[in-house]
Amino acid sequence: KLLIIDFGSQVTQLIARRLRELNVYCEIHPFQNVTQEFLQQFAPKAVILSGGPASVIDEGSPRPPMAVFEMNIPVLGICYGQQVMMHCLGGKVERGHGTAEFGRAYVSPKAPLSLLEGWFEEGDEQVWMSHGDHVSAIAPGFEVYGTSPNAPFAVTADPAREFYAVQFHPEVHHTPKGAKLYENFIRRAGFTGDWTMGAYREQALQAIRDQVGDQKVICGLSGGVDSSVAAVLIHEAIGDQLTCVFVDHGLLRQGEAEEVIGMFRDHYNMPFIHADEKELFLSALDGQSDPETKRKIIGKLFIDVFQKHASDVGGAKFLAQGTLYPDVIESVSFSGGPSVTIKSHHNVGGLPEKMGLSLVEPLRELFKDEVRALGRELGLPASFIGRHPFPGPGLAIRCPGEITREKLEILRRADAIYIDQIRKHGLYDEIWQAFVAILPVRTVGVMGDSRTYDFACALRAVTSVDGMTADYYPFSHEFLGETATRIINEVQGINRVTYDITSKPPGTIEWE
Ligand code: XMP
Repeated sequence: KLLIIDFGSQVTQLIARRLRELNVYCEIHPFQNVTQEFLQQFAPKAVILSGGPASVIDEGSPRPPMAVFEMNIPVLGICYGQQVMMHCLGGKVERGHGTAEFGRAYVSPKAPLSLLEGWFEEGDEQVWMSHGDHVSAIAPGFEVYGTSPNAPFAVTADPAREFYAVQFHPEVHHTPKGAKLYENFIRRAGFTGDWTMGAYREQALQAIRDQVGDQKVICGLSGGVDSSVAAVLIHEAIGDQLTCVFVDHGLLRQGEAEEVIGMFRDHYNMPFIHADEKELFLSALDGQSDPETKRKIIGKLFIDVFQKHASDVGGAKFLAQGTLYPDVIESVSFSGGPSVTIKSHHNVGGLPEKMGLSLVEPLRELFKDEVRALGRELGLPASFIGRHPFPGPGLAIRCPGEITREKLEILRRADAIYIDQIRKHGLYDEIWQAFVAILPVRTVGVMGDSRTYDFACALRAVTSVDGMTADYYPFSHEFLGETATRIINEVQGINRVTYDITSKPPGTIEWE
């Protein structure tokens, strides 16, 4: 197995993802935990030192144990990882002074290197840089193999010891040949790429059993892919120690409750609580229009409901959720950086300390497409795995402004027609997520010979790989026209349909 030592970069998890794509088993451990004893126990076949926000020049900045360099295994340092490697092995690192680089840069080859096999076939390679400090003198034994205008030591290596160090981030998409670099690295380390989602499943099952022992767990099941995969996985691990709690907050889509109940209670036969809490949620949301307030109210009520059922099932100690890695990055502030909260995803932030339940989050390291792969591995029906994501706060965040029961009902009908149209045209699987948002404006229209004064709605459809960035879907005008006509004809209360063509960024996928 491969060890990634995390120095706090926001993209460390992407390194793990790239390696999983290459079917290599790896674990990320924060630098604080990686002691010499830890290394001996872990016995990695290779080590990657991640990037991070610190400066090696500062006293007390993080270091790996020197043993990393004495184990006769390949080591790859990335960004801060490169700098710390140079520093530890006798090179020099200096502060910025006009050499900071953020964003796209181009690396030119200096000499052939196994790590860069397949690079430079069409000239200089684009890479993504993000650094203030830079290496000013390389460590003994190292040579330079690639340079960029602002990073004369963009790629350095000591091939005899299998030490490699790069200033840029090969794990991000903006380094197009990054995956190739990782592939070259793992081949040097002797990995054959025989690790699969099946193996991930086994390991996740064991981790769940180790965490919960013989305690009871309740799982907040929304019917979305994430919580569904989490529930099936946990059920496989601990059987009927798990009870699913499906909270009907009155913000579900048309037919949703029936589908979820049919799947989990009837098909999987899991202990299942259908918590009908429509009144509780809708009355608390009454008169609220601020997006964060809505999210906070919903998040808090979810916890109240879970807590209530935790005692109902005889003292559950754990709450399981389908939190994914992108939820984690977007919601928490990292110790090392000023990353801001964009939205409080209720399934990450806002869990009060005194909730009295510990979290089980078996998907916390995965990206959406990996969760789907795991779902397939677990044998979930394709129709469930392929479902578009649906957020925990449900239709509340697709109803900007005040939420009323009337608006929710209109929204549900319009949404069902829109999704039906998408399915009929065979587009469902090409689209990451599609939904209708009902807008807080009424506009004037004419139907028959009468004046109407009804709500406008917006159709949203995006393509995305992981939900972190997204493009709007380029529907044909025919499709849009036909869909708008159907919605206006079939849904009383809507007389105007618009199509949202904002990408993410600058927009987000949901409207709130
Ligand atoms: P945004 O709107 O932030 O959404 O671009 C990215 C993805 O996350 C989903 N989303 C949520 N999922 N709880 C969830 O479980 C939430 O509070 C939440 N907010 C957004 C959104 O539907 C999209 O797939």
